[in-house]
Amino acid sequence: MGYDNIRVEKRGKVGLITLDRPKALNALNSALIGELGTALDAFEKDERIGCIVLTGSEKAFAAGADIKEMQPHDFAKAYIDDLITPLDRVSRNRKPIIAAVAGYALGGGCELAMMCDFILAADTAKFGQPEITLGVIPGAGGTQRLTRFVGKSKAMEMCLTGRMMDAEEAERSGLVSRVIPANDLLEEALKVADKIADFSLPVVMMTKESVDRSYETTLAEGIRFERRVFHAMFALEDQNEGMTAFTDKRKPQFTNK
Ligand code: HXC
Repeated sequence: MGYDNIRVEKRGKVGLITLDRPKALNALNSALIGELGTALDAFEKDERIGCIVLTGSEKAFAAGADIKEMQPHDFAKAYIDDLITPLDRVSRNRKPIIAAVAGYALGGGCELAMMCDFILAADTAKFGQPEITLGVIPGAGGTQRLTRFVGKSKAMEMCLTGRMMDAEEAERSGLVSRVIPANDLLEEALKVADKIADFSLPVVMMTKESVDRSYETTLAEGIRFERRVFHAMFALEDQNEGMTAFTDKRKPQFTNK
């Protein structure tokens, strides 16, 4: 299908989605959010895709939800149209999604990056939840996910003041996994995604599911879940291939079975 607000490409086993509303710094309007969900669902279903990279432009990953679209809304319109729930298609996707963030990731843009599985940040990246300056609160998980990533004190300060965090502070506080020179960001994100996509797809997906469990349950339950999944791996041909390749001193050939 054709997209107006994003660009969608396949690079081998990696699905690449680029937010593409340059005139609005990739502000998330309902059309963009719909297209993003459709593209992510298609990559999730595509057996040849093992990992997804979500990126924006040099200047902005996304400068938030589209303020001009939201500005005239009253409560009923905001509630009925519900811009936010369709974004759940990002966090519900069962394949890994890497956010490659350069420039502004503000408001819904920061929240979108946090819905991904990990964030690689360019040294130009700036994260923030400026909603308070607009007379609202973060609505797509900012008060919850940011707090889990960076702790209460920093999340509270950012949500209450709207101040931005640069890439170095974001790495130091655990919001992003690594900072990369801006010119190398996409290449590095695609390299990391390629590496993940070369592993066994069911094992990759179950790894993601298990790490995500740590957010949603107690430690004891999470450990039990992980152990069951670990034992279940021994039903996969890829487990046999991976361990046999190690003992044979060769590279494994995973078949996703
Ligand atoms: C609509 C936006 C936008 C946004 C930027 N633009 N952000 N349009 N919604 N969130 C538009 C501007 O209006 C302008 O259009 C063009 O993009 C370029 O932006 P400038 O402001 O001229 O650029 P600059 O001076 O470089 O400043 C960059 C900026 C600033 C600091 C990122 O644009 C900014 O503060 N943007 C708003 C950030 C924000 O408050 N985000 C939170 C949104 S609320 P024109 O036509 O004038 O050239 C939110 C709630 C989430 O996200 C709820 C759940 C989804």
